[in-house]
Parts: sequence; C-alpha cells; structure tokens
Amino acid sequence: MLQNKKVVFIGGSSGIGLESAKQAIAHGAEVVIASRSENKLQQAKEQLGMKASVQQLDLTIEHEVEQFFQNVGSFDHLVVSAAETSGGPFLKTDTSQARQLFENKFWGQYYAVKYGAPKLSPNGSIVLFSGVVAYKSMIGSSILGAANAAVSNMGKTLALELAPIRVNVVSPGIMDTPSRSKMTEEARQQLYESIASRLPVQRVGTPEDAAQSVMYLLTNSFVTGTVIHVDGGHVLT
Ligand SMILES: NC(=O)c1ccc[n+]([C@@H]2O[C@H](COP(=O)([O-])OP(=O)(O)OC[C@H]3O[C@@H](n4cnc5c(N)ncnc54)[C@H](OP(=O)(O)O)[C@@H]3O)[C@@H](O)[C@H]2O)c1
Repeated sequence: MLQNKKVVFIGGSSGIGLESAKQAIAHGAEVVIASRSENKLQQAKEQLGMKASVQQLDLTIEHEVEQFFQNVGSFDHLVVSAAETSGGPFLKTDTSQARQLFENKFWGQYYAVKYGAPKLSPNGSIVLFSGVVAYKSMIGSSILGAANAAVSNMGKTLALELAPIRVNVVSPGIMDTPSRSKMTEEARQQLYESIASRLPVQRVGTPEDAAQSVMYLLTNSFVTGTVIHVDGGHVLT
C-alpha cells in the first residue's frame, strides 16, 4: 500500500512514531526518521534496517526544520509525532514553561507543515498529533489541552487549504510509550492501572494501537480533515 512511497516521521525514534515507521516499512515504504537524540536515532535505525534513514533535528528550531526539508527533497507523506510534554497546576506553572509546551507541541508541528508541505506529492498526506486532553478536561492539563486543541484545529483547516494534500490528526489517549520513562516503574504502573480501570476498554493504549490509525490515514485516500481518537473511549468517561 505504501510501495515506493517516501514517508517522513518527525519523532520517529520512539513510541508511536517508531512503531508507525515500522508499520510503514512493512507496507513497502522507505522512511526518513528525525529527532534530536543521536543515540535514539541509531537505536531506531538498528530496529528499522535498510529502508530507514535517520537525521538529527530539533523541531522547535525553525531554520533547522527548513534545512531538514531541503535535504529531504520531495516525498509522499509526513507524520509528526515529535513532542515533549508536561503538565501541572495552571497557577503554579511558570509562563516560560507554558510557552515551552506550545513550542514543543504546537509550533513544532506548525514548522513541519510550513516547510514540509511544499515538498509533498499532491497525492500525499500529513498526519499531525493532538491528544485526549484537548477533548476531555483534566486537572493539570490546561496548557497541554490548549496546545493539542490548537493542533487539531489547525489540521482541520489545513485539509481545506492544502488540498489535494490530505491532512488528518491522531488524538491518542493514555498510551504506554517511552514518553513517561522519567517516572518510576511503580508510579507508571499505578497511573496505567488507575486509567485502565476507568476506560471502557479496561486498558491503556500501545504504540501499535496508534500506529494502526496512522497507517489508515496514510493509505485511505478518501479521508481528510478528520481527527481520529485512539483513546480506549477516554472522551466518553
Ligand atoms: N503517550 C501518550 O500517552 C500520549 C497521549 C496523548 C498524546 N500523545 C502524543 O502522541 C505523540 C507521540 O507521543 P509518544 O508517546 O510516542 O512520545 P515518545 O515515545 O516520547 O516519542 C517522542 C518522539 O519525539 C521526539 N522529539 C521530542 N521532542 C522533539 C523535538 N523538539 N524535535 C524533534 N524530535 C523530538 C523524540 O526523540 P528525541 O528525544 O530524540 O528528540 C521521540 O522520538 C506526541 O505528540 C504526544 O504528545 C501521547
């Protein structure tokens, strides 16, 4: 389905991005993965093999993003799962920390589209990443929720502006990915168990769950302007 297609995964060295890159290769694609850490990129390259090339990139630095897409040249699909997010009580969050969250989660995706879209094939597509806290209010997630909502809204409007390039958004719920590697194993398991017990599906998500949605959005050429919720029913509870 992605035979001879070139797919760029920014944030492809970990979690949902890495699993999506694996699935894209399994569907015949050639992938470029980008993120900041050389170490993570090398480890990902070992897992992905010959069909993957890696490039260091900090998505929050505009001129790096512009240069990155000049190096990549023309390509077919863009998936932007890169982000480093945080939460905390609104009144106790420094303004600089709140701005940093927008730099990571919103402006990074903005730069990726701004410099990536002109290099995309007209038959191609873009997949952006929002998150459940845009749709389900959660204490401690006011700023992340706002950043995620901004991404979802931008994606839906870009589906009109960038057409025929398709633009879609994935909104994950709580997924077990390396994004929480700074938590202790015990705290992480407690969080996952507590969330799972409140979800209709009785479990948290996996990178594979989200990657399946990415594959669907890359390969179904009749889908644009949509937000796919891969959240185990989180928005319902
Ligand atoms: N996991 C969840 O529970 C969850 C919930 C809701 C939404 N989401 C969203 O889903 C997406 C994927 O999350 P994930 O759980 O797969 O995260 P992850 O495992 O932490 O992976 C994030 C990836 O982004 C890269 N990255 C981070 N900041 C970057 C930057 N400034 N420039 C370039 N690359 C950068 C990381 O590599 P480097 O460190 O090498 O840069 C890594 O490859 C994110 O948008 C996240 O907000 C996740």
